[in-house]
Amino acid sequence: MARDSNLKDAVQEQFGRVAAKYLTSAVHAQGEDLPVMVEAANLKGDERVLDAGCGAGHTAASFAPHVGEVVALDFTAKMLNQVEVLADDRGLTNLSTRLGDVEKLPFADSSFDLVVSRYSAHHWARPGKALGEFHRVLRAGGQFILSDVLGFGNPVCDTYLNAIEVLRDPSHVRDYTLEEWSNRFAAAGFNLAVVLPYRIFLQFEEWTERMETPEVNRAAIRALYDASPKEVREALQIDDAGHTFQCAVLRGTSSRS
Ligand SMILES: C[S@@+](CC[C@H](N)C(=O)[O-])C[C@H]1O[C@@H](n2cnc3c(N)ncnc32)[C@H](O)[C@@H]1O
Repeated sequence: MARDSNLKDAVQEQFGRVAAKYLTSAVHAQGEDLPVMVEAANLKGDERVLDAGCGAGHTAASFAPHVGEVVALDFTAKMLNQVEVLADDRGLTNLSTRLGDVEKLPFADSSFDLVVSRYSAHHWARPGKALGEFHRVLRAGGQFILSDVLGFGNPVCDTYLNAIEVLRDPSHVRDYTLEEWSNRFAAAGFNLAVVLPYRIFLQFEEWTERMETPEVNRAAIRALYDASPKEVREALQIDDAGHTFQCAVLRGTSSRS
């Protein structure tokens, strides 16, 4: 996937095929990070919120009862259909959907109080561009709250992590490290705070079935599990059932006054 346009096609094709599975996925529908993201925003109740890379809408739906309005944006149309199902189920009338790319947002400057994004950023080839767009659409002093898998500072662990990820899902780009996020937040004009470091357990069968990973790739992931050195086995907590990922909730406050 040398060209970025191909990468974006791959993301849309991949998630379009499996969109309905993301509505019921426990990793996405639940998770200790969701209430922490809401809490970290210090909401007053009238905010306009953008959920960037909303998938089936679990983050948007978590914020909707606590704010004025949520716009759930994704560039996979079939994911937006799932958001509509979720909003209907929960009677959320202040949640709307919008087709769009995080790197080129279809919104005016300073038109949101808060931007949130969860488990989408590892698909972004130009995260700095997305952060620049979030900063542009946020009012002065607005916040960006991110939850995602983190890469490792240790290059051996980082290589195995991203190899396993891309074998499972060819539209995976990179689990960025905390240092990479820190540099990008600063470059985009956000003051960074680490709100919550946490881990998620990925049960191998469920994790690969959700993405319809072909058997040849599943076998390659298992081979990497077996071949991985001790430091990787410990960092990913690999066992017979699967592995864990280290994740974090990060908050960026716009330094624009
Ligand atoms: C795992 S899902 C998101 C899960 C969801 N945020 C949640 O909390 O359950 C990842 C989503 O990111 C979207 N995505 C990836 N790159 C994107 C981009 N450049 N612009 C918009 N959406 C993007 C994909 O279409 C996919 O729906």
